[in-house]
Amino acid sequence: MRKNVFIYTYGCQMNVHDSEKMIGVLSEGGYTAVGSPGEADLIIFNTCAIRAKAEQKFFSQLGRIKSLKNKNKNLKIAVAGCVAQETKRGIFKRAPYVDLVFGPQNIGALNTLLEQNKHLFVEENPDLAENEFSTARDSSLRAWVSVMYGCNNFCSYCIVPYTRGKEISRPSSSVLAEIRDLHGRGYKEVTLLGQNVNSYRSDMNFPGLLRQIGAIGIDRVRFMTSHPRDMSPELVEAIAELPNVCEHMHLPLQSGSDRILHLMNRGYTLSDYHRKIDILRERVPGIAITGDIIVGFPGETEADYQLTLDAIRDIEYDGLFAFMYSKREGTSAYSLDNQLSEPEKTERLNNLLKIQEEITERKNSLLDGTVIEVLIEGLAENDAAFLSGRSRTNKVVILPDGGERSGEIVNVGITRTRMHSLEGIRTDRKITRSSS
Ligand code: 5AD
Ligand code: SF4
Repeated sequence: MRKNVFIYTYGCQMNVHDSEKMIGVLSEGGYTAVGSPGEADLIIFNTCAIRAKAEQKFFSQLGRIKSLKNKNKNLKIAVAGCVAQETKRGIFKRAPYVDLVFGPQNIGALNTLLEQNKHLFVEENPDLAENEFSTARDSSLRAWVSVMYGCNNFCSYCIVPYTRGKEISRPSSSVLAEIRDLHGRGYKEVTLLGQNVNSYRSDMNFPGLLRQIGAIGIDRVRFMTSHPRDMSPELVEAIAELPNVCEHMHLPLQSGSDRILHLMNRGYTLSDYHRKIDILRERVPGIAITGDIIVGFPGETEADYQLTLDAIRDIEYDGLFAFMYSKREGTSAYSLDNQLSEPEKTERLNNLLKIQEEITERKNSLLDGTVIEVLIEGLAENDAAFLSGRSRTNKVVILPDGGERSGEIVNVGITRTRMHSLEGIRTDRKITRSSS
C-alpha cells in the first residue's frame, strides 16, 4: 500500500536539496509526497540550527503537529537535519511522540530506519561521500548538486561543523555523472552545493571540477558557498574563462573589523578580502557579488560596527544577507563575555540593512538600458501577463509574456529597475558587455 509523506523544510539550500533526496529515497520505499501534513502517514521536519530563531520555529511547529497523532494512530513523525544532529536523543525527551531522529548524513538509510523500532537515533555515516541518492527534484530546469558535505572551518560562532560533520568531497566521477544526466534530461542550470566549495578535493580541486563541468555543456553553472580565505586565483581564472559559469559570487565577509574577524576565526583580514574581490571584478567584468554579515558578535564595539558599515559601503554588494549574532551552544564563541543586548543587535541590523538597500537599488539602477541574458523560469508571481526569469548574475527579471517557454534563454533590454527585481522587454539586441 502506498503511503504519504509531508516534509517541513527549514534553513539553507543544503536542506532544500536534502528534502528532495528524502522524497526520492522514500518514493522507492512506497511513499508519495503530499501537500499538507493532514494527509500524511509520515511527517518529516528537516531542521536548521544555525540561529536560535530557526530552531524555535521548528519546535513550535512540532508542538502544533502533536494533535495529528491522536487522529491518525499510524502517523510517524521524524526529525532530520541540523537540530536532529545537535539535540540527538534530547528530542525524544522534549517530544516523546517523535518516532525517529536522524542526522543529515543518513538520508540514504531512511527506508530501513523507518522499518525499525521507535526512538531510534542515528548520526555519523563515514560512507556519505560515496552514497548515491535518487532525488525527486522540485524543478525541471534548475538543479542542486552536492559536491561536498560538512565543514572543517570552525568559525567560532558557527554550529555547522558540529551538525554536518567533517568535510568530505564527493568523487568527481559521481558529480560529473549526475550533471551529465541532468543535462541529458534538459536541465539548464546546476548549483553546486557545499559549505566551502573552495576546499573541494578529490582527484581534482574545485577549479578543475568546474572545468570538467563546463565541458559537459549545461548552460549555467553556479556554486555556493565560497570561503574568502580559500578563494584562489585559479578559481577566478576558471570563472573568467568558462562561458557557462555564471558571473555571481557569494562571498561571506561576516565583519569589517579585523579584530572581530580574528575572534571569529575567519582566517583573513578586510584588506585580504578587498584584494580578492578586486581581482574578481577585474577578471570577470559585471560580476555580481553578494555576502553575509553578522552584527553583534560578542564584544563588537561601536567602532567595530562602523568598520563593517564602511566595508559594505566600499564593497557595494549586489545583495547582502545580514544576521544578528545568535549564541549557539557548543561553539567556541558561546562562552565569550560582552554579549550584546537584543535591542542593540536589532538596531545595528536595521541600520545596516537600510544602508544596503540604497546600495542594492543603486547597483541595480546601473543595469537600466543594458541588455542581459535571462533564463525564463515561468509565469511571474503577481501578474499572469508577465514571465519571470533570472539573469546570469542571479537577479530576478520580469518581462511581458511573449509565449516563451520555461527554460528558454533570451536577451532582455532592461527598462526599469527595483530593489528586488529588474523589468525589461525581449530584444534581438546583443548582450551589453559591462565595462565596470
Ligand atoms: N549567528 C548569526 N549568524 C550566523 N551565521 C552562522 N552562524 C551564525 C550565528 N551563530 C550566518 C553566517 C553564515 C550564514 C549562513 O549564517 O553569516 O555565513
Ligand atoms: Fe560555519 Fe564557517 Fe563552516 Fe560557513 S565556513 S559553515 S560559517 S564554520
